[in-house]
Amino acid sequence: MLQALLLIAGSGPALAQCPFAGNSDEIPAGHEVVAVRPVAIEGYQEAVEALDIEAVKADILDVLTTSVASWPADYGTYAPFMIRLAWHCAGSYRQDDGVGGCDGGRIRLDEERSWGDNANLDKARMLLRPIKLKYGLGLSWGDLIILAGNVAIESMGGPLLGTCLGRVDESSNYWAVELGPNEEQRAVAPCDMGDTFCTAPFGATETSIIYVNPGGPGGNGTDFLGSAAHIRSSFGRMSMNDTETVALIGGGHAFGKGHGACPDGAGPSPAEDPTNPWPGLCGDGISVEDRFTSGWEGTWTETPVNWTNLYFQYLSTFDFTLNPFVNPAGNTVWRVPGNAIVAPTANLSATEPVMMYTSDVSLQIDSAYREIVDLFAADLEYLEEQFASAWYKLTTRDMGPVTRCVGSDTPPAQDFQFPLPDPPATLPDYDAVAQMISETVNLAGADGSALARYSVRLAWRCASTFRITDYRGGCNGARILLSPEADWPINAGLADVAALLDPIKAAYDDLSWSDLIVLAGTLALEMHGSNALPFCGGRTDASDGAGSDLLEPRLTFGVNDTETEIKYAIKLSGLTEGEYIALLGLNAIGQMHPTLTTYNGTASAMLSSDYFTSALSTSWISDGTQYVSPEGDLYALSTTAFLRFDEVLGHYAEIYADDEAEFKRSLATAWTKLMSIERSL
Ligand code: HEM
Repeated sequence: MLQALLLIAGSGPALAQCPFAGNSDEIPAGHEVVAVRPVAIEGYQEAVEALDIEAVKADILDVLTTSVASWPADYGTYAPFMIRLAWHCAGSYRQDDGVGGCDGGRIRLDEERSWGDNANLDKARMLLRPIKLKYGLGLSWGDLIILAGNVAIESMGGPLLGTCLGRVDESSNYWAVELGPNEEQRAVAPCDMGDTFCTAPFGATETSIIYVNPGGPGGNGTDFLGSAAHIRSSFGRMSMNDTETVALIGGGHAFGKGHGACPDGAGPSPAEDPTNPWPGLCGDGISVEDRFTSGWEGTWTETPVNWTNLYFQYLSTFDFTLNPFVNPAGNTVWRVPGNAIVAPTANLSATEPVMMYTSDVSLQIDSAYREIVDLFAADLEYLEEQFASAWYKLTTRDMGPVTRCVGSDTPPAQDFQFPLPDPPATLPDYDAVAQMISETVNLAGADGSALARYSVRLAWRCASTFRITDYRGGCNGARILLSPEADWPINAGLADVAALLDPIKAAYDDLSWSDLIVLAGTLALEMHGSNALPFCGGRTDASDGAGSDLLEPRLTFGVNDTETEIKYAIKLSGLTEGEYIALLGLNAIGQMHPTLTTYNGTASAMLSSDYFTSALSTSWISDGTQYVSPEGDLYALSTTAFLRFDEVLGHYAEIYADDEAEFKRSLATAWTKLMSIERSL
């Protein structure tokens, strides 16, 4: 039976073909793995690998110390300014859906470049533009911005772990649209009270800012504990713990100053006036007394261009709450009692008392933060260790696994990159494994074997944790067999399927669970009438389930999923809508959800266009839990029911209903892509 089905399907899986291993000639047409992201220009990978990083760093250092008349450097260096640029580029990342971060270089684009928090960062990018032009394709804006931040830190004596290069620039804000403020964001990540008091999944506590309001929650400057709570919440949403958070804020504010020395504001954003954004509405807009960025004028330490732990020493020593000061823009900052410590003005012509924002002072009021402040104040080396790690995480987390990093400055894989062990040194004979799968578990079985169907579900669930935003998840690692994935309700019953595959795993020392799961699922799909599918071995198995948190499906698949949520889930998957909808055709061959009914076919059900015809022609109604036909004989997950409710999704379903060959071609492409996507990056 198995052999016959293999013959019907063509030749069985085309074993050991790897779409990402440079042998794309072997890939059947239409099966290429094309991720929705990144959209790298041809030749980029070679160009970034060939980049002379030391030469780029030397050029950045020159820019840092060469003041230009159109935007004179504070204290004679643009280093703090570049750290702010890098921090704001990276700091939009949020772990809930992986959106944001500097990969993509989207801080150059609206809406991000016009956020109030990003005022004047256009000037920082203009300073770097000659370097971008000099190195061209191999130096993306994303990499240049992070590298500039790193060179800046180093130039002032600060600690670094290294630099991961390989960011791919984007030319539209498609992958930042959910960061808002706009209608899509309000649908996917709404904030209370308009655009303020935002909670997860949103990253910041307000739209248009990176994390929190420096002046306290909603501008309540004396709510120090509220400010600490906002900081903990928003930094937590980007996966920073308390120590990392305190190290980053105080390490960052070891440098530079805030700008708002006059009352009139920064002027129009780039979106409002791209020809002359943020001109500064006081005087010439650029001199020390006229420059306006945030309106939060002031300097944190007496040595604003040298790396120190003075920020922490001050917070550990002085009660800043005793000495409020209203700056020219009307914002209250906090000074050392008696104004006992002063910093140089930006043009080095005078001095002014150092200050802290409400958000800074909150670190001395909140008891957990305070303990860390005191540790950093007493131990510079400890601060350096923590800051270097946290900064690297901040600037690299959105890049995904370490395998995406390019360049000799890349440090060893960090925990936040959830590294996998090396794949087995030798690979098994996959033809023999396939044969054993077929013989042992009777994939084709006369009744369309439950195992065959469940093998498809196991592989689908294993692979579909992948999200394209920060490249986390996927079947490589087989974390579906480990907690927490193994405990997710959506994966109920799959351990039993894996147990049936156990004898095969035991027979091959060099066979990984992840290869076995993908191969069994792929074989089973062919048994059910798919086109011949390529299979690429060489996966490895994780030793723990770290990295799976937040990858649980966003959809319930029941009646409460909205059209927006469904489309957003498709977007995050890295599949096109057409590919995702082709994969819905899997529901025709067996139960693909542990509790909701998805299987309306007979025991011998095969993949077919009928599934889409039925989805489009049934008047789905809610039974309170899931969608059901008026006669009560057919069921659909939300994703299937919306093929009828939504014209765009329905468009693809109509094509597949009309043209079975096109459905199977799209399904083969989608399946191949899903099974390989995390390894093709
Ligand atoms: C400057 C707020 C965290 C690095 C500023 C400014 C504000 C601010 C209002 C003044 C901008 C201007 O007017 O020029 C905050 C808040 C934070 C935070 C509310 C979180 C609670 C960080 C972090 C870093 C950082 C995590 C880096 C690791 C800097 C630097 C400057 C700066 C270097 C000086 C820029 C310059 O001199 O031009 N910050 N910040 N900040 N921030 Fe932060």
